[in-house]
Amino acid sequence: MNRKFYITTPIYYVNDVPHIGHAYTTIAADVAARYRRLDGDDVFFLTGTDEHGQKVQQAAEQAGRSAQAYVDALHKPFKDLWARFNISNTDFIRTTEERHTRVVREILQALHEKGEIYRDSYEGWYCMPDERFWTEKDLVEGNCPECGRKVEKIKEYNYFFKMSQYQEWLIDHIQKNESFILPASRKNEILGFLKKPLEDLCISRPKERLAWGIPLPFDEDYVTYVWFDALINYISIHGSHDEILKCDYWPAAHHLIGKDILTTHAVYWSTMLKAIGISPPLNIFAHGWWTVEGKKMSKSLRNVVEPNLLIDQFGVDVIRYFLMREVPFGLDGDFSHKALIGRVNSDLANNLGNLLNRTLNMLGKYFEGRVPEIDVEGDEDAGLKGKSKEVVEQVNELYDELAYNRILMKIWELLDASNQYINSTAPWNLAKSDDGKKRLATVLYNAAEACRVIAILIHPFMPDTSKKMMQQLGVETPIEDQGLPSIRTWGWLSASAQSKQGEQIFPRIEDKAAEKILATVEVKASGDDGAAAVEEDNLIQIDDFMRLDLRVALILEAEKVKKSKKLIKLKVDLGHEQRQVVAGIAESYEPEQLVGRKVILVANLKPAKLMGIESQGMILAGSDQGKVVLAGFDEELELGARVK
Ligand code: MSP
Repeated sequence: MNRKFYITTPIYYVNDVPHIGHAYTTIAADVAARYRRLDGDDVFFLTGTDEHGQKVQQAAEQAGRSAQAYVDALHKPFKDLWARFNISNTDFIRTTEERHTRVVREILQALHEKGEIYRDSYEGWYCMPDERFWTEKDLVEGNCPECGRKVEKIKEYNYFFKMSQYQEWLIDHIQKNESFILPASRKNEILGFLKKPLEDLCISRPKERLAWGIPLPFDEDYVTYVWFDALINYISIHGSHDEILKCDYWPAAHHLIGKDILTTHAVYWSTMLKAIGISPPLNIFAHGWWTVEGKKMSKSLRNVVEPNLLIDQFGVDVIRYFLMREVPFGLDGDFSHKALIGRVNSDLANNLGNLLNRTLNMLGKYFEGRVPEIDVEGDEDAGLKGKSKEVVEQVNELYDELAYNRILMKIWELLDASNQYINSTAPWNLAKSDDGKKRLATVLYNAAEACRVIAILIHPFMPDTSKKMMQQLGVETPIEDQGLPSIRTWGWLSASAQSKQGEQIFPRIEDKAAEKILATVEVKASGDDGAAAVEEDNLIQIDDFMRLDLRVALILEAEKVKKSKKLIKLKVDLGHEQRQVVAGIAESYEPEQLVGRKVILVANLKPAKLMGIESQGMILAGSDQGKVVLAGFDEELELGARVK
């Protein structure tokens, strides 16, 4: 039977749009999942969305929608982004799904019956945004110790999970299991936290204060605390209690999380599982946080690294590579466009692209593109093969530690060794004589095999690039079928594969283009939108155009602006939010003609007031001799879909 491998990401709150921090964990999990599949493991990779709780309820209220309609729309940007990023998740869990809520209620009922949950009155300091109670001594200068915001004193009856009784067990478990919490610094942080007495965990919220949650099965006046609900996603995906005990995917190999949610995972989740009678996960890995261009990621700075825009600008694999390569997994890092461009040019274009190109180029020139049979062997060969074996083995060990950046550094050692192999064997000289040609055959076979080994090794990080490399090398067997066994020994590549040089896998970002990108980033990061740089010939660059965020929007309401001949006030729906827009179309349209139409909204336009009414965007229309015609679509498109 194949080895089972289960890996998870946190489930993301839907009241936020997906950002680079979310993408980071999801890509990291995807890399590990893809690698294990290459090794023949049966992989279950779970991600999803956290859809209950105060923040969601408040955000839905602000958007003027029911909580259910809100989460139904808002989980989609996550799903869409993961599809764009080539994420190979097995399932996507939403905590509002019946398959999840059923298991949460079953677990609560069982714990209640076992006496693990009790009712008590509680007075404490409550942090509304974090949805957590704190004791007086936890507070920092009277504020929430986690987010620094104001707390409120609240007294109420609630239900509590007897978490305190598991303190000694948890300390012991952490100490005995080296890799339970990684990196080691995080493990020490939790052991430090556990030096203070552990309190019981409040796991309910009165419905009158918060209605949007899973009702407690034994007291319908309460809903479940969002964290108690959310953490259970990791097992509810596999069914009820009995089904989980039989499920080979549990215990999970890795829960990947950010450092801010370590306590909830290492302490709440582990003790919850202990009480439920299910073993803890094998590893909880807390990664660091990203800053953007040296600054804390604020709402406005997020525009600079909006994942969809980054993909449009640089491509999926560049972003995947950069996030995994730039920072050791576990430490904080900075997302800088300058560093990103540097990596594209040196690691990807110069190094990787160059090795593939020169190999294909010489195969074309000397063997009509056909991979030759090995002929005369030489001194240099053993070095290359030895390096490949060493890299394949060490990469495998580094995956156990999820040391993504070191894995990539190792793979690049093989790249350097391969480029070096070509330099020292000098195929261009060998091609000059008949004897030399026999050696040339071996050299180019080895160079092509090195490219294939590298293509397999980078597959988890850059699946599209890896596929393109295989196509250009003329290898038809799918990468998953070649797998790791095909690179553990040298020489899987069959001679006679028909290679064909295609387009450059990573073109260099030339200085002029790089300067432009950096100038745009500077403007965006300073919060000043500035004017798009216009070339002397009055043409703009594609990235100037891409700065426009055009979206499909549905007109929900339309009404003429009093005392204005031209203006109509609209309410439009973007799928995940609603906007008020004032449009100068009243001379061409009656309000009732507009409701129900799908239009194109410029969604990132600075709000402006027209006749004292705020307009949050602009609708696109064509005009000809005073007649205005709205731009639209001749087929149905999802609300919020990007127009470009
Ligand atoms: N819903 C909870 C998780 C429940 S898991 C049972 C949650 N969601 S979240 O959407 O707020 O955060 C999800 C993840 O994003 C966290 O792991 C958090 O660390 C991560 N990040 C948020 N901002 C980040 C950066 N600036 N950099 C890296 N990761 C960041 O918490």
